[in-house]
Amino acid sequence: MKDKKIVVTGGLGFIGSHLVESLIEDNEVTIIDDQTSGKLKNIKSFNKRNIELIRGSINDLNLKKIFEDIDYIFHHAALISVPESILDPLKYNEINVNGTLQVLMAARDSHIKKLVFASSAAVYGDNNILPLSEEAYINPLSPYAVNKVAGELYCQVFTESYGLPTVSLRYFNVFGPRQDPNSAYAAVIPNFIQAILNNRRPIIYGDGEQSRDFIYVKHVAEANIKACKSHVTGVYNVAMGRSTTINQLFEIINEIIGKNIEPIYAEPRPGDVMHSLADASEASLFGFHPHNDFKSELRETIEWFISQSK
Ligand SMILES: NC(=O)c1ccc[n+]([C@@H]2O[C@H](COP(=O)([O-])OP(=O)(O)OC[C@H]3O[C@@H](n4cnc5c(N)ncnc54)[C@H](O)[C@@H]3O)[C@@H](O)[C@H]2O)c1
Repeated sequence: MKDKKIVVTGGLGFIGSHLVESLIEDNEVTIIDDQTSGKLKNIKSFNKRNIELIRGSINDLNLKKIFEDIDYIFHHAALISVPESILDPLKYNEINVNGTLQVLMAARDSHIKKLVFASSAAVYGDNNILPLSEEAYINPLSPYAVNKVAGELYCQVFTESYGLPTVSLRYFNVFGPRQDPNSAYAAVIPNFIQAILNNRRPIIYGDGEQSRDFIYVKHVAEANIKACKSHVTGVYNVAMGRSTTINQLFEIINEIIGKNIEPIYAEPRPGDVMHSLADASEASLFGFHPHNDFKSELRETIEWFISQSK
């Protein structure tokens, strides 16, 4: 992608900032972010020549004006916590559904060439017919998952009814530099790394034999750009199609850091699915293929966490 004008909503966030980083060398990027969870320090080291930052909510800004000369939109702005969505479904609906609808309407009215929507494997819920292909039945188990289903369906309708090309990418468990280890709902990888680096024993809920399909954030950025450049529309899994148990993950992180910390096993968390694994083959339609270097990606992530603690 070259010499394009691009909007990344949520561009100060974990995934959005990696996408911005991949785009800014050759394109002009406008970030829209209200800093709910996004941080300026995520883009601190970037060359700012090609970045415009608009601070504000997708629900409040005059998006049609912002999108006037824009070619492509990557819509990543969202509230992202499953447990928090259970506590406050109305707030989640407002940002994740109404906000997405605002983005889509403005994109349609501004004749955007394509919009990529950040969806989630959460839409599959506890469907355990693995691996999960895009045709698998969806079974959202939280307001957050319902929001993502609604977002996908709105994208589909905007493509069919208004001719706005859209693609929804269902990310599985994303990890990498800049993922927040300090939020109350921190994801498992930053949580383990932070604990082991600080000689603390992290909690594993259940027996640790539950498994996930982890994908490195830089590959998620790559998938976004490839999906946007291609002619595909519709819904695609973005995953590695590789299963790792929480116990295996814990062991690898211990080994890379060079420690032998023991986890604390606790009762399983209600709502946690036992296994999650994607059939990641459809994404090859837009040229995205699984990578097989989990250990080196974890090493890079750990090095980043170490660099932050200095
Ligand atoms: N991290 C994962 O494993 C994962 C998995 C599946 C899907 N996703 C989706 O990917 C996207 C990015 O997630 P992330 O992990 O980078 O989270 P993140 O919280 O780091 O990024 C979300 C960004 O959106 C911004 N934002 C929130 N509400 C906004 C609003 N009303 N207006 C403008 N900006 C707003 C936040 O400030 C933040 O910068 C989200 O849509 C999320 O649902 C993430």
